[in-house]
Amino acid sequence: MTGYQIQPFHQSFDEELCVPGDKSISHRSIMLAAIAEGTSHIQGFLPGEDNLATLKAFQQMGVDIITHSPTHITVHGVGKFGLTPSKEPFDMGNSGTAMRLMAGLLCPQSFNSELVGDHSLSQRPMARIVKPLTSMGAIIETLGKAGRPPIKITGTPSLKGFHYSMPVASAQVKSSLLLAGLYGEGKTKVTEPAPTRDHTERMLQAFQCPISLEGSTVILQGGATLQATDIQIPGDISSAAFFMVAASIVPGARLLLKNIGVNPTRIGVINILQAMGAQITLTNERYFGFEPVADIEVRQSPLHGISIPQDQVPLAIDEFPVLFIAAACAQGQTRLTGAEELRVKESDRIESMVNGLQILGIQAQGTADGAIIEGGVISGGRVQSVDDHRIAMAFAIASLVAKAPIEIQDCENVSTSFPSFVQLMSFLGQPITIKED
Ligand code: S3P
Repeated sequence: MTGYQIQPFHQSFDEELCVPGDKSISHRSIMLAAIAEGTSHIQGFLPGEDNLATLKAFQQMGVDIITHSPTHITVHGVGKFGLTPSKEPFDMGNSGTAMRLMAGLLCPQSFNSELVGDHSLSQRPMARIVKPLTSMGAIIETLGKAGRPPIKITGTPSLKGFHYSMPVASAQVKSSLLLAGLYGEGKTKVTEPAPTRDHTERMLQAFQCPISLEGSTVILQGGATLQATDIQIPGDISSAAFFMVAASIVPGARLLLKNIGVNPTRIGVINILQAMGAQITLTNERYFGFEPVADIEVRQSPLHGISIPQDQVPLAIDEFPVLFIAAACAQGQTRLTGAEELRVKESDRIESMVNGLQILGIQAQGTADGAIIEGGVISGGRVQSVDDHRIAMAFAIASLVAKAPIEIQDCENVSTSFPSFVQLMSFLGQPITIKED
């Protein structure tokens, strides 16, 4: 296993940075391009392990995908009915998005499939997609205990559209049903309890598939074909978030993060940091296709604790590990509520973060649906990432203000979402020593 060893940081930085492409959009770009008519060119693809698992799954189903460079890909779409069966199960690695979205797409195929994942993914709940997909007529079962992966699908080309009111705000569930709905008879409608990332809806429009919104309900008419298109993927705001917090907490720091996706369903991290006193400005606002993009300037400023508004939780759902580091550096108390979903991510992120912060001398306490963190002084120590990429990177950011060295265990999974993280930290003057445990 690979751990990080990081010394205290005694400098500052004033730099421009680009982060890799958006993970959620990269998954969707491969999936939709594969089932479109014609050839799609994708630029800015994230070559993280999660996205490569999705790419490989489509190669297993006979899709010709050409990798010109790690970030520039051409997909020769086979059309909605052109996928061919895979002899091997699909290994979705660490990726909940890949597994849940692929399940939706595989249910209506004319062949059977099996989806497997790594240790972490094998603990994650799949009943949330199995139940509504079954209501559409899909034959899908989980082979693990209590609705956990692997997932076995008996292809059923005669799905029916239906209306599902999601009990949990989840873009993965919504997207899984929309992908199944592409093949369904009639309309598929998904009502959200709160807005979640809408990359699937935006990208379906880019592939000329009609989709509409009525209040909090997304409506897709089954039967449409997708037309190939070229896609430019913005920088991932979830990766940029680590550096937004870095620039907010390091004395005298300034960063300009270039070409970052600022879809309104993803900017909770900006809203929350600004409410804590962060100095964040968006410039050069424009669109990459249907996705809004901006350059984000962050200057260090004193942060203060807040009660995080619950409506921001789904909009910042992946950014809480690093937001907990911001809270640890803020003056006063930060309270998070309404975030029980954090307990079923790549790790139980409430527990993983609270345990690590306590080791680093911060008063932090987990609650059923969130946490209470008292700002303080971050000391050093050895923390466990629990194999969770975002926990590992969050504690690496803490090292920028820590009083003593921090050692983070089991950091291999950083490559699932942010393969160049260590290089970018080193570019800012904070080298990370990689240690084989
Ligand atoms: C994602 C949706 C979110 C997020 C995940 C990516 C997506 O998951 O946490 O990292 O790409 O649709 P949930 O749908 O479980 O909230």
